[in-house]
Amino acid sequence: MGRDIDWATQRISELRQEIEHHNYRYNVLDDPVIADEEYDRMFRELVALEQEYPELSSSESPTQRIGAQPQEEFQKVEHHAPMLSLGNAFNEAELRAFYKRISKLLGTDKIDLVTELKIDGVAVALTFQDGVLVRGATRGNGLIGEDITANLKTIRAIPLRLRKGTPRPETVEVRGEVYLPITAFNRMNEERAKANQSPFANPRNAAAGALRQLDPGMTASRPLAFFAYSVGYIKGTSFKTQIQVLKQLREWGFPVNSHYRHGHSIDRAFKFCSEWEGKRESLDFQIDGVVVKVNRLDYQDRLGVVSRDPRWAVSYKFPGQLATTRLLEIKINVGRSGALNPYAVLEPVQIAGVTIKTATLHNEDDIRRKDIREGDVVVVKRAGDVIPQVVGAVREKRTGREREFTYPDRCPVCQQRVVRKPGEAMAYCTNPKCPAQGLEALKHFVSRGAMDIRGLGGQTLEKLLALELIEDPSDLYFLNREEVAQLPNFKEKSVANLLEGIEQGSSQPFRRVLFALGIRHVGESIAALLVTHFSDVDSLMNASEEEISSIDGIGPEIARSVHDYFETKKSHRLIKKLKKAGLQFRVARGSVKDEGSLKGKTFVVSGTLLTFSRAQATEFIRSHGGKVTSSVSSKTDFLVVGDSPGSKRQQARRLRIPQISEEKLRKMVE
Ligand code: IVH
Repeated sequence: MGRDIDWATQRISELRQEIEHHNYRYNVLDDPVIADEEYDRMFRELVALEQEYPELSSSESPTQRIGAQPQEEFQKVEHHAPMLSLGNAFNEAELRAFYKRISKLLGTDKIDLVTELKIDGVAVALTFQDGVLVRGATRGNGLIGEDITANLKTIRAIPLRLRKGTPRPETVEVRGEVYLPITAFNRMNEERAKANQSPFANPRNAAAGALRQLDPGMTASRPLAFFAYSVGYIKGTSFKTQIQVLKQLREWGFPVNSHYRHGHSIDRAFKFCSEWEGKRESLDFQIDGVVVKVNRLDYQDRLGVVSRDPRWAVSYKFPGQLATTRLLEIKINVGRSGALNPYAVLEPVQIAGVTIKTATLHNEDDIRRKDIREGDVVVVKRAGDVIPQVVGAVREKRTGREREFTYPDRCPVCQQRVVRKPGEAMAYCTNPKCPAQGLEALKHFVSRGAMDIRGLGGQTLEKLLALELIEDPSDLYFLNREEVAQLPNFKEKSVANLLEGIEQGSSQPFRRVLFALGIRHVGESIAALLVTHFSDVDSLMNASEEEISSIDGIGPEIARSVHDYFETKKSHRLIKKLKKAGLQFRVARGSVKDEGSLKGKTFVVSGTLLTFSRAQATEFIRSHGGKVTSSVSSKTDFLVVGDSPGSKRQQARRLRIPQISEEKLRKMVE
């Protein structure tokens, strides 16, 4: 082959352009068009060529993102213009006060505002000279920061040069936030835990730690990302508005967070703030508020800066997800598996608009490790829709009257013995007839994903148990009119409704019946997996532990649990009665035929779908032989996306997993 220097010059230039182009598609447009392997192949080819022709190497080559030498210390550098901080508004009134202030100063109440998410990361300033990244610095004290150029160059989302064909100012300092995506943060902490290292407290600390590494190789090993939000200094061009700045930043090749809004009223700005307060959990990065900025730069100049805070912007801070309150009492709830779940009864407290009265305490060791006592003032955390939890006790507030909690050795419901196996975190009630377990098992049995018996809630079940009309789930199917009529306040209509609900639920497929049994570790997807291998309950009952664990996706712990369950006399009795009641204990004929179009494919559903509920979509996929899992991994084949899909979508993009609409999903089976 004619491999001369001209050829190499040409090829190297092509590869550099291609690689930066795909970096841009991936990081800025969020729309990759090639697979990771293809990118890696080009990258390796470039590395090889640059080694073969060292005279053609360049500090702007994408290969130079990694491989810089470790440093002794960071140099101090002066910013081109001070990096300011921001004043806070903690509520609607303070936000409106900001608007009033600026209206008065500008002599108008028609001020165009821009609202942007306040990314909770590390602020950096990037200097480009004639379009080339020459320096990257931390904020430092706002006037002088540290030169971390080598570390910043390892971040693929930061362009090494401004995109071709865009204006090339002589000097421009771009500002933005380096952050660690939450998915990457979680993965990193899992790995740290495995290596016996203490975890990072939050993604911001992890990002800051990564940027402070003296060895850029260490920084490169952390999947940091970047959002640009302003121009700190520019020579050679000028802007009129913040919106223009954001658009230009994107054109230059910087990732700009797309969730900004432009509109002139403070009402709309506040609406944006409260909307994102509720939606923050859907993002793959942490935000701690919203930055509200005056759009016109001439107005910004007129408003100016007082001490370090510009008068033209304010940070609307989200209320914390923490609160302190008194822990009145520690109680135990007995779950369907017999697990004793401790929880705190709290003096009611508001967190972000929701009243919290109870919070989980996880388990015995957790209470001891955190030394939480009855009567303590405690810190409670509520994040998104997860169950509130007690973070810890405020020891300084102790009066000496707090009571240490002794974990019961008897079940608080049936008074039978409690055991905690070595190595296990939870203690269990040993009584298979424990009424608490019975009730929880029944609640699970009738629940939505299981037999889906409408109109049969916990209270009715409790009464049915108390009246000794039922003992286990199978008894539900043998209830008659007279019996149901004994329930307090059950008139003819409600009796008929309940019986009809039970009847309707009885035709649920085998997979759901298996899930309804409430076998430990057998959730909906494991149940679905089991029925694809065992087409009826008898073959499952006769299967050995090895046979069960040989199924891809079923580990030894689950296999043991399934096997142990079917060893018990109680389960045999129950299944016999349920069979008699007519429930499905084999895969229905016909459904096997249908199964196939999605066979072997794994799906994850994200966001709100239009024509399916989440459960229906899952059901649909499974009924056509597909598998549904809750989180995106390299094993996922498709992500079904609805409205507001959240972090799963970003994860799917990162892993280059195809995303399909619900319409496409339906088409796949047609
Ligand atoms: S503008 C003078 N926009 O928040 C205004 N800042 O206290 C300069 N931040 O450390 C900042 N997201 O790094 C602006 N969309 C955003 C931001 C943002 C996060 C950080 C910034 C600074 C702090 C301001």
